[in-house]
Parts: sequence; C-alpha cells; structure tokens
Amino acid sequence: MIEFRDVTLAYGDRVVLDRMSFKARFHEKIAVLGGSGEGKTTILRLILGLVRPDDGKIFIDGKDITGLSESQLREPRMNFSIVFQEGALFDSMNVKENVAFSLREYTDYPEDEIERRVRRLLGRLGIEDAIYLMTEELSGGMQRRVAIARSLAASEPGMMLYDEPTTGLDPLTADNICRLINDLSKGGPPERAGLIVVTHKVKDAAKVAERFMYIRSGHVVFDGDIDALKNTADEELRKFIDDLYAA
Ligand SMILES: Nc1ncnc2c1ncn2[C@@H]1O[C@H](COP(=O)(O)OP(=O)(O)O)[C@@H](O)[C@H]1O
Ligand SMILES: [Mg+2]
Repeated sequence: MIEFRDVTLAYGDRVVLDRMSFKARFHEKIAVLGGSGEGKTTILRLILGLVRPDDGKIFIDGKDITGLSESQLREPRMNFSIVFQEGALFDSMNVKENVAFSLREYTDYPEDEIERRVRRLLGRLGIEDAIYLMTEELSGGMQRRVAIARSLAASEPGMMLYDEPTTGLDPLTADNICRLINDLSKGGPPERAGLIVVTHKVKDAAKVAERFMYIRSGHVVFDGDIDALKNTADEELRKFIDDLYAA
C-alpha cells in the first residue's frame, strides 16, 4: 500500500502538491492524469523517496518513508520498478549495458548471469536481437521497450511506475506499448501486479488503468473508475477527457 497523507511540496514559491492525500494498493492499476506541470512526475519521485515532502507523510507498506536515509530507502524502493519519461536511456551505452546497469550496480552477479538475465528480459519484450545496438539506432518504440527492460532488471517483481510511457510515440507504437504494459502486469505475483501510469494521454490511460485520478492545483480532484470518469460533471476534466470520445 502507498499512502500520501496531506503531502505538500513546493519548489521555491511554486506549490506543486497542496495537502494531497490518497491510498493505492500494490495490485491496483491506476492512471494519474493531469495537465503539464501539475505535479504528476513529482508524485512518482515522492513515492520513491527521490524528493521529500515539505509537509505531510508518505507511507509505503505502512512505513513512513519521509525521514529515511538513502540506504534506508532501498527497501521501500524495491516494491517498485520505474520507467522514467522518454525512457531516459544512457546513449553512451548499448542496449545490453543499459539493461545491465542496475544489475552491475546492485548485485555481484558474474558476467554470464548478467548476460542471461539481460537476454531473458529483452526476450520478454520482444527485442532480444537489439542487444548490441546503441540507443540511437533504436526506434522510439524500441527505446521504450529497452527502458522497461532496464527498470524490470532493477527490481522485479514490483509495482510498475510509468512516467508518460506513450508520449511522443505514433498511435500504433503507443498502442503496442499499452499492450505490453498490460502483458507485463500479468507476469508477477497478482498482489503486486499493479501499476501507476502518469500521463496526459487519457486514451492510452484508459487502455491500461482501472482507476483514474485527476490532479489539479495540487489536489486529487477526481478519483474513480472509467464510468465515473466519463460521467464527470467537472467541466475542465470533461475537456481533458475529450479524447476518450474521439473516434
Ligand atoms: N527540480 C525542480 N525544480 C524546480 N521546479 C520543478 C522541479 N521539478 C519540477 N518542477 C516544477 O514543478 C511543477 C510540477 O512538475 P512535474 O511534477 O514535472 O509536472 P508534470 O509531470 O505533471 O508535468 C512544474 O511547474 C515544474 O516546472
Ligand atoms: Mg511529467
């Protein structure tokens, strides 16, 4: 379980989250929707303890993480795998080294075990042939797959956190990534097979999520399922989800 309890966070004068509260279980499939700059990425960073709230508390599995040190944060972080926005791959490394990065950083696996794990992950994502390519040689969709493989290598199995996984992709590629996100959530133990996808692309969100949270001005202004979302009376949210009705 993730719990935000009255979480407030500002960057300088800019208040991004304003006493935000919500709870999410590790098996839930959640889309966090909102316009650009509303704090969606910040929520993911807070869950991982990459930034700390100015006020309020964040509980992961019942444990308050707001005061933990870097080394103490390792354990709560193991509940998650995050795919950062735009993949954020290292362009000086080939696919294998990108995926192997956290294995080299956090484990003592010998080279043949690293190779075996990298190949298995790439195989799962359908891109084993790309193992020795440089990231600049990859299509946008393949880059996302490598980014997902890299995050799975870091801490599998865990709840997946995706930051704008389909942003910048053409519709067909975006659709493939949504399908992949769904397939991956069937792989691990069901009680941890959830995901949080942060996105402004509501149509893609509807393909992978069952619960929708819309954030605005630092608050969760909507939290419900797809039917409730489609029937919202909130004018601005209606405009935001217009895409859902487009052919
Ligand atoms: N490290 C930072 N320093 C200063 N301002 C930041 C920083 N990160 C994000 N912001 C600002 O905080 C707001 C929310 O950012 P973000 O969480 O990235 O929004 P979103 O992902 O919804 O687009 C934005 O106005 C952004 O400019
Ligand atoms: Mg963002």
